[in-house]
Amino acid sequence: MTEQDFVLKSHPKNVDQGSITYRSPSNIALVKYWGKKENQIPENPSISFTLDACATTTTLAFKKLDKKSNKFSFDLLFEGKRKDDFKPKIETFFERIELYLPFLKAYSFTIETSNSFPHSSGIASSASGMSALALCLMAIEQQLNPDISDKYFNQKASFLARLGSGSACRSIEGSLMQWGHHKGVPDSSDLYGVIYPFEVHEVFKNYHDTILLVDKGQKQVSSTVGHDLMHGHPFAKKRFDQAHENLTKLKNVFATGNLKSFIEIVESEALTLHAMMMTSQPYFILMKPKTLEIINKIWAFRKETGSNICFTLDAGANVHVLYPEKEKEEVYQFIKKELVVYCENGQYICDRIGFGARKL
Ligand code: DP6
Repeated sequence: MTEQDFVLKSHPKNVDQGSITYRSPSNIALVKYWGKKENQIPENPSISFTLDACATTTTLAFKKLDKKSNKFSFDLLFEGKRKDDFKPKIETFFERIELYLPFLKAYSFTIETSNSFPHSSGIASSASGMSALALCLMAIEQQLNPDISDKYFNQKASFLARLGSGSACRSIEGSLMQWGHHKGVPDSSDLYGVIYPFEVHEVFKNYHDTILLVDKGQKQVSSTVGHDLMHGHPFAKKRFDQAHENLTKLKNVFATGNLKSFIEIVESEALTLHAMMMTSQPYFILMKPKTLEIINKIWAFRKETGSNICFTLDAGANVHVLYPEKEKEEVYQFIKKELVVYCENGQYICDRIGFGARKL
């Protein structure tokens, strides 16, 4: 598929008004996307677990205007209240996707959105938020053009979501999603996410992710700025190659359920992501002392007990604690006893691998 294949050229139906609701989850990358080219094209492929509990629900109401406007017309409500400071992000998103959805200026929209996780929990809502909105827009395209296949629907929803926020393209389906071309995965694409197509061992089918909310404040450096700092970064080329190598290694890990190798790759990816931030110009640190305390406790617990617990990090201080279903009791006790003290107001979210977005 090329970008041209996603341009809606004509549509047989006319739709005057309607309303669509989607619930779309967040995702947690195992191999990280960090660095992008123009038009939201990733510098390296990434792979993620789709989550379940952390999600955004978006209702898109639309009404045809008497005549096509020369600007986008939309209102935005976040958790029931007008949220005008989110509007520029949506405006940019609409600008990027108008070529593919030429009907956007023919309607006025009301976007009502809410998150399942606490506001300002430091959890990125862009993946779940942008994927939910992209799905609602695709549902309008489907009403205009009912013949599109489910495959095309999901691919284009992912393609559009990517233009809102890169990682959002991995939130449409589940449970293991790859985005970015990798030579070992024939259908993989820089333009949209695909369901990981190879064998996945049972152990990965019900993995847990407990998210420890270490710092709920606003990030000092946005992902967009962080991605940008990979241009001219002294270690960029090596890092992008490494992501390809880690994906190659994961093929065998996913097939066999080799958790020792899984842990090595996932933790190394998390620390490499933060190492890239610490070695960019300007350099910055998003981990907090408590992030490191948690990591050390996890390593000590693993050494003492032989557990398969491990961690990964987003572009922030929060820690995602990953563990298999079989170990959930012991790990949960450990989290409660030893890790929750490092969370802001003792807050954490018990999440697990999920199956993608759904229409409500
Ligand atoms: C560290 O998808 O938030 O979470 O494309 O600029 O919106 P934009 O960036 P974003 O970057 C996410 C980076 C990451 C790693 C990952 O999810 O792969």
